[in-house]
Amino acid sequence: MAELTHLDEKLAEVLGLAQAAQTATKKVATLARQEKDTELLELLERMGDEAAKVEQRCDDAAGTREGMKTAIAEKARETKAEVSGFMKTYLEDAEALDGLEFLSMTEAGELAHWEILATLNGTANDKDIAAVVEFALPLQQSHVDAVRKQSLRLAAEEDPSEPA
Ligand SMILES: [Fe+2]
Repeated sequence: MAELTHLDEKLAEVLGLAQAAQTATKKVATLARQEKDTELLELLERMGDEAAKVEQRCDDAAGTREGMKTAIAEKARETKAEVSGFMKTYLEDAEALDGLEFLSMTEAGELAHWEILATLNGTANDKDIAAVVEFALPLQQSHVDAVRKQSLRLAAEEDPSEPA
């Protein structure tokens, strides 16, 4: 298989993270549904839809990388599997707030990866990657902000002296 450049590898990672984000938001949405939290549920559905759009654009960008598409897809699968493994452990017997804590880690990690890709592409100047970064970076920042806001809302509603 073709050997990935740093730029291809980072593109593969954000692709895998966008795939994992769809699984994660779906999982946390089931917790929000159990707690009848429609505000949170709506956010998670929107984040899942946006992650699907990001995945699509990453896929399109991967298609423009001469001979790299298969290797990028393979690396993306690895990244997704790593996050999914972490999710399984973290979200055993979870409540919605645990779900938001998990998302606060993965969404912040996703943002960091996008910023790294943007910086690499500052040197590489690939116009297809520039376009996907321009689309995904502000979205990703908004996910981090929204998850933080929702997690603090849920924390404020919790009775700190109740059994965990
Ligand atoms: Fe996200």
